[in-house]
Amino acid sequence: MDRQTKAAILCAGIAAPSADNSQPWRFAWRGDALDLHIDAGRSGRVSDTRYVLSDLAAGACLENMLIHARSLGYAADLQPFPQHDDELWVARVRWRRDPEGDPIEPLAGAIEQRHTDRRFPWRGPITTETQARLNDQARLIPGQRLWWPPTARERKAALGVIRQAETLRFRSPTLHAELFSSIRFATGWHGACEEGLAPATLAVEPPMRPFFQALRRPALMALFNRLGAASVLGWRSAWLPIRLSPGLCLLVIPSTARSDVLAGGRALQRVWLQATLDGLSVQPYAAAGVLSLGFVPIEPAFQRWLSRMGAALGQLCAPGYGLVFLRIGYARSAPRDRSGRRALASFDAS
Ligand SMILES: Cc1cc2nc3c(=O)[nH]c(=O)nc-3n(C[C@H](O)[C@H](O)[C@H](O)COP(=O)(O)O)c2cc1C
Repeated sequence: MDRQTKAAILCAGIAAPSADNSQPWRFAWRGDALDLHIDAGRSGRVSDTRYVLSDLAAGACLENMLIHARSLGYAADLQPFPQHDDELWVARVRWRRDPEGDPIEPLAGAIEQRHTDRRFPWRGPITTETQARLNDQARLIPGQRLWWPPTARERKAALGVIRQAETLRFRSPTLHAELFSSIRFATGWHGACEEGLAPATLAVEPPMRPFFQALRRPALMALFNRLGAASVLGWRSAWLPIRLSPGLCLLVIPSTARSDVLAGGRALQRVWLQATLDGLSVQPYAAAGVLSLGFVPIEPAFQRWLSRMGAALGQLCAPGYGLVFLRIGYARSAPRDRSGRRALASFDAS
């Protein structure tokens, strides 16, 4: 494999989504084999306890690389978590030329286009054919599936769980600190940044921006929480956009084993790329699923919330563990502001 091909595969990898745009990936080439590691300095924050978010991002990155390599005529042998005592070593991929392989890989064309869109409202409908295409992509990764609320009652229940989780992100001091520390306010409301969340990508309405920015201060957040601010923010960030979008589905993984979370990231990426090809906008909501797993050590006062959320989510999508909700729909235009990426050399762990 020549250097150009190797670089092209890594470029596809880092185009993947990651929670808070943390890009927690490191790559090391061993001849034609590629090792994918989680970056110790960009992972393991409170919501990433047990590396759930990093494993999802690693799965998405891996899937992008596999898809792009296939389009270049390479097949791969994948070994997940090759060494049990190295929790950051996620996978080894051995590439080989595949003359029999089918280089037509439609999803490859969506890798650079895919992005998170936090705007609303979006148009519908999401037809059963579109749903079936997205379902098929999830199921291509063994054990993974999408759950769609079958009735209005279940959609309402799912919306309730998501709203609770998003509210908790502003109410819990631990989660609040984590959330606001990943927003790069220094770039301003129009700039881009190569890592973390650029405020411009958050779709906060202009009159609300100074207030939202001020809420990064814990004391102010606590003060406004006495007046119900967390609840309003949960309503604005989750309830309203989802109510004004035609599609909501949930990625369900079969177990909480790290290999299944990694596979979940692969399925998430396939679904998102297919949605992109279909002209759909996507916003993931991960807090409900990730907090419900029970790994995240937040303040004891909120433990009851977590148990209730976990039980409600489990009831909705059993069997399995609902991990990431996806809000989907047709936007009028592509968003002007998108998240950036670090330079490729900064991911090198060789
Ligand atoms: C595991 C995971 C969880 C995410 N959770 C959320 C979320 O809860 N809310 C949200 O708006 N975006 C979420 N995102 C989207 C990321 O913020 C986004 O992928 C990142 O900022 C890079 O931007 P891009 O997707 O436009 O490339 C999540 C992405 C991943 C992979």
